[in-house]
Amino acid sequence: MVCKTEIGRVDDRVEPGESLETNAENLKDDRAVRNGARLLQQEEVVAFPTETVYGLGADARSPEAVSKIFQAKGRPQDNPLIVHIGYREQLNELISGEIPEAGSRLIAAFWPGPLTLVLPKNDIIPDATTAGLDSVGIRMPSHPVALALIRLSGLPVAAPSANSSGYPSPTRAGHVYSDLKGKIPYIIDGGPCPVGLESTVVDIRQKKAVILRPGGITSEDISRVLGYDVVQYRSETIDETPASPGMKYRHYSPAVPLKIVKTGDLRDKDLDEYKDLNPVFILSDETAADVELTDFPVIKMGKRKDLNQIAFRLFDILREADRPEYGLILIEELPEYGIGRAIMNRLQKAASR
Ligand code: TXA
Ligand code: MG
Repeated sequence: MVCKTEIGRVDDRVEPGESLETNAENLKDDRAVRNGARLLQQEEVVAFPTETVYGLGADARSPEAVSKIFQAKGRPQDNPLIVHIGYREQLNELISGEIPEAGSRLIAAFWPGPLTLVLPKNDIIPDATTAGLDSVGIRMPSHPVALALIRLSGLPVAAPSANSSGYPSPTRAGHVYSDLKGKIPYIIDGGPCPVGLESTVVDIRQKKAVILRPGGITSEDISRVLGYDVVQYRSETIDETPASPGMKYRHYSPAVPLKIVKTGDLRDKDLDEYKDLNPVFILSDETAADVELTDFPVIKMGKRKDLNQIAFRLFDILREADRPEYGLILIEELPEYGIGRAIMNRLQKAASR
């Protein structure tokens, strides 16, 4: 399908000093948000900002609307979508059975926010949305534009990241446009996404919660709230049957091959071995200041000490480095604690091809 892609900029109705609630309510009058809500009601797809990454939304109850998401992204049919809600009460309309104790605690601590809970679904959510699974991933985002859009539409909104399948996730409206122009009718431009990495996906159907995908809420945060060490499901290989279906696909990959390099190797190793490969280096500010790399292009990703800042910029930087004149992206390894776990998870996937 070919169509014209319009971009609606959100007017400056978001007041930094105001509460999320007030901003979300005020945004219901915004022209771009109203256009988006109307398209969702007409079973069309709309790209919109969330606090994590841009999402490509559609009515989660409608197989026809949801099929347009898979088509626009080129997404494999067996990879389920996350459903976004605008009010906590909306959760009960979509799941079967009671919310488990762990769920209530996590919701109280982290919603609205970058946490997706996997629960048994009910019949309102069709197989097309969950790729035939009897469970559904649900989250309530904390971006005022996302909340306003979902509330105004009155719908549960299915939304994966609004990128071409396999490519780095979009954290700016421009990323969405470059991936999906001509394939979707509308993008709501609400500026860059403040977290920059996708939500943490947690399965709370068993006695102990399991993290299926590390993300914006750290495993330390979750363990603190639940009072025990939460297990991280590990499936980095394509052959394993993953608990979170999306984990088996190649993901987050720029077209240029990517390799992760240890900080120590950047300091000590002879980097001339890379010379013929036309590499670009992505380094922390500290390492960039320390290592003399006069022969190579360098992109700085922010301070190692501030992993949140690196997460915020990561996907934008991967896209920036993805140019035909480069033969290899060499990116510095980062510490795997806090949000560093999610960062390294995305980089390991981007590197495995
Ligand atoms: O932050 C986010 O989560 C963003 C924004 C737009 O909300 N969305 C996002 O969606 O990252 P997507 O489709 O790119 O990633 C969803 C992940 C996939 O790995 C998928 O397999 C997993 O969540 N998932 C969805 N439903 C699931 C379910 N019922 N059981 C297990 N995993 C599920
Ligand atoms: Mg995605």
